[in-house]
This record gives sequence, structure tokens and C-alpha cells, in this order.
Amino acid sequence: MSMQSALSPAVTTPPNPKALRHIPGDEGWPFIGNTLKVLADPKGQIEKSAAKYGPIYRTNLFGETSVTLLGPEANELVLFDQARLFSSTHGWGPILGLLFPRGLMLLDFEEHRLHRRALSVAFKAGPMKSYLVDLDRGIAARVRQWKSQPGDMLVYPAMKQLTLDLAATSFLGADIGPEVEEVTRAFVDMVAAAVAPIRTPLPFTQMGRGVAGRKRIVAYFSEQIPIRRARGGGDDLFSQLCQATHEDGALLSTQDVIDHMSFLMMAAHDTLTSSLTTFVGELAANPDWQQRLRDEVKGLGIEANDPSSIDNLEKMPLSEMAFKEAMRLKPPVPSMPRRAVREFSFRGYTIPAGTSVGINPLYTHHMPEIWSDPDKFDPLRFTDEASRNRHRFAWVPFGGGAHMCLGLHFAYMQAKTFARHFLQNLEVSLEPGYKADWQMWPIPKPRDGLKVKIKPV
Ligand code: HEM
Repeated sequence: MSMQSALSPAVTTPPNPKALRHIPGDEGWPFIGNTLKVLADPKGQIEKSAAKYGPIYRTNLFGETSVTLLGPEANELVLFDQARLFSSTHGWGPILGLLFPRGLMLLDFEEHRLHRRALSVAFKAGPMKSYLVDLDRGIAARVRQWKSQPGDMLVYPAMKQLTLDLAATSFLGADIGPEVEEVTRAFVDMVAAAVAPIRTPLPFTQMGRGVAGRKRIVAYFSEQIPIRRARGGGDDLFSQLCQATHEDGALLSTQDVIDHMSFLMMAAHDTLTSSLTTFVGELAANPDWQQRLRDEVKGLGIEANDPSSIDNLEKMPLSEMAFKEAMRLKPPVPSMPRRAVREFSFRGYTIPAGTSVGINPLYTHHMPEIWSDPDKFDPLRFTDEASRNRHRFAWVPFGGGAHMCLGLHFAYMQAKTFARHFLQNLEVSLEPGYKADWQMWPIPKPRDGLKVKIKPV
């Protein structure tokens, strides 16, 4: 802890906007600020502001004056956060707090460290191996089904359904039974509400459905936790969390298990749906790369019906690089909010305590001074050689520092297992001249679902 943070108390309320006037930028229209412009075209709007004001600028989003910090140095300052200046609780809280209270990403500093440690048992090599068995089985079955219906396919809804079904088994266990539909529906309502424009849980709104969904999820987990604990064992993530303990050996409280499970399911769901959709879209648009990855899969020497092993996945470096490149182009978490709990400075500007700050992977991932020809899909940007000379916070789809994505290996495992089955069985292409229409915020998603053609190879 720095001297400064040891001395000054944390501030969690916004400063007077006048205290930010020295920072270049503009607040846009009264009340709505720049919110609508940013929502309509987040990347274009940020690039415009960066060109006009530079890598630190003031804006008004969702009714509050905030400061955007751009580039790898900004990412490092905010994510690495050695001085514990930036609160994730008070950054993400306004967006996710109502539906996913006390999820790991919504905890700060020492309390966060303790919970992260307790949860990390569920992501160690042993449990990961059992999740792979479920993921592999589920993906293989779904790809077989797609193979039996060649022709047009909408990638986004197909991925959403697949990721949801996989979460039900690898997170909750294959024997979840008839409640699966109910739990899944409640969960879908919560995820949709997390980014709903109307933030009050009024009846018939997304937020209203989300809050009702949370009630059902809480009831389900509350009933299941004692059952799972009494039964012991279990290879799924929920069973792992039911057995997880704090440093003193005490089990996590029932409420903690509920909050962590809800958050984990949310964290995994839209991010994987988004990144796998981008991945398939890029394979369809780049047939040469599609073939190179297919050759890599062929080189594994496994039959179409063989299960995938960790060893197989480790021998897919090109697929991993292609997935990384997909997340460079369309990072599933395009911006990350924090609140500065103490005064700090960046590029010569002093920013007061309480300021809402945001960093922007979407912008950083397209900076031409870092990424030549930034819109081109080129997985070779991620060879060891090419990565070595790049700032370590130039590519941050999983964040970094204390809050770095805990499910990163899970995400690679799912993506590579998917790549293996998909490429071994299917060829994917686009109609000539077709370009999907992407909405980039809050999570990149093709508005039209992303139309492709699939056929058996
Ligand atoms: C491609 C897929 C994924 C992407 C791009 C992604 C991205 C991220 C990012 C950017 C953060 C940090 C946000 C911040 O610091 O503000 C994060 C945190 C987190 N992610 Fe992921 N995620 C993915 C998949 C997953 C999966 C599959 C899981 C669980 C199985 C997961 C669990 C978590 C958790 C628990 C945190 C909070 C970590 C902490 O606060 O210590 N994520 N993720």
C-alpha cells in the first residue's frame, strides 16, 4: 500500500464537475451528455474524442462527468493499480450491482483478494479437466447437429444457445434435472437486464424481469447448497464452490456461494458468446486462415468422434492466436469502469478523488501505432516474437492486475474445443459482399445475428 493510500480515506462519491474542468473534453448535451453518441458508435466517438482532445479527456455518460484514459499506459495504471487507487466496486456497481451484487469483480482490494483466493480452487488443473469433459461432449453433439442441417445459419443465436447449454452442465452439473429450464430462463433474464436502458425494476421491463430472475436463482441455489454440501464431491463448478473455503478453513457462506455463482455464470456467458461469434465470422471471412486452422486440427491425428484432451488443445497454437486476434478486433469487454478513490495523475493532469474513470480496450486494440493495418485479421500478431516487443497492456481482452479474468483458461479451453470440433466437421463461408452489422457496446454483438453458410467438410 502506498503512503498516500495509507493516509487519505477512500472517496466514493463524484467530485464537483467543476473540479474536472481543467481536463480537455466536453460534456455534450444537458442531461444526456454524450451518452447517445457513444452508444450509436462507441469506437468512432472515442476515436474522434481522442483526435480532438488526446489520450485523456472528460465526457458525460449516463448522467455523470467521467474521465476516459486511453492507451496501454492508461490500461496499466488503472488495471495494475499498485497503489490501490481504483475501485471496481464503485466502477461496475452502478451497472451490475443490482443484479450481481458482491460478484468477484464487484469486490475491492483486501476483501477481493480473499474471495479470489477462495474461488481459485474451482479453476485449478483438476476441476478444469472435468469441465473439459462436459464442454467437449456438449460441443461435439451440437456440431453434429449443425452438420446434419447444412445451409444458412445465424451464428450469434446459435452460439448463445450453445454457451448457455454448456454452462448448465459444466457449471451446475449434468444431473441438474428438470429445473434446468427454469434456472436457465431466470439467468437469461438477469443477463439481459444487466445492460437494460431502464435501470429501475418496474413491472414488464427487462430490469423487472431481471430482478425477478435473481430471486428465482437465489431460491434455487439456497435450496441446492446444503444438498450439494451433504452429498460432497461433484465435478461441476457449483459443487466446487460449495466445498471452497477461506484461508481459515471455513466454508464460504451460502450468500457468498450464491453471489459468486450468479456472477460467474454471467461473466462466462455473454463474453464467450461474443468472442466465439467474432471467431466464426473471421474464419468465414478469411478462408485461407480457416484452412490453416483446419490443417492444425487434422495434425492432431484424432478421429472426429474422439474426445478432446488438454494435450490436444495445447497443440493448437494457431487456433489460439486466431481466437486472440478475434478478441483484439472485438474485445467482449470493450471498456472497463472504475472510480478513483484517491487523487491521481495521468499525463500531467491531476484527477480528483471520486472521479469515475474508464479505460478502453476497443480503442487500444486498434491503435495504428501499435497494430499496423488495425482492421485486418492477422493471427500472426500473436506469435511470441511479435508479442515480445509490444507493451504488455496493449492487448487486454481479459483485463489485467488483481481483477484479471479468473475464467481466462476456461475461455481458451472452450474456444479451442469449439475450434477443434467445428473445423473438423464444417466449412463456413459468407455470401459475397456480405458484412455483418455489429453493435459494439456494451458487449459486441451482430445486430443481424451474423449470417453464414455451413457445409460438412
Ligand atoms: C472470452 C471470454 C472472456 C472474456 C473476454 C472475459 C473478460 C473479462 C474481463 C475484461 C474481466 C475484468 C474486468 C475488469 O477488470 O473490469 C473479467 C473478469 C472476470 N471474469 Fe472473465 N472473461 C471471459 C470469460 C470468462 C469465463 C468463462 C469466466 C468463468 C468461468 C469468467 C470469470 C470472470 C471472473 C470471475 C472475473 C472477475 C475477476 C476478479 O474480479 O478478480 N470470465 N473477465
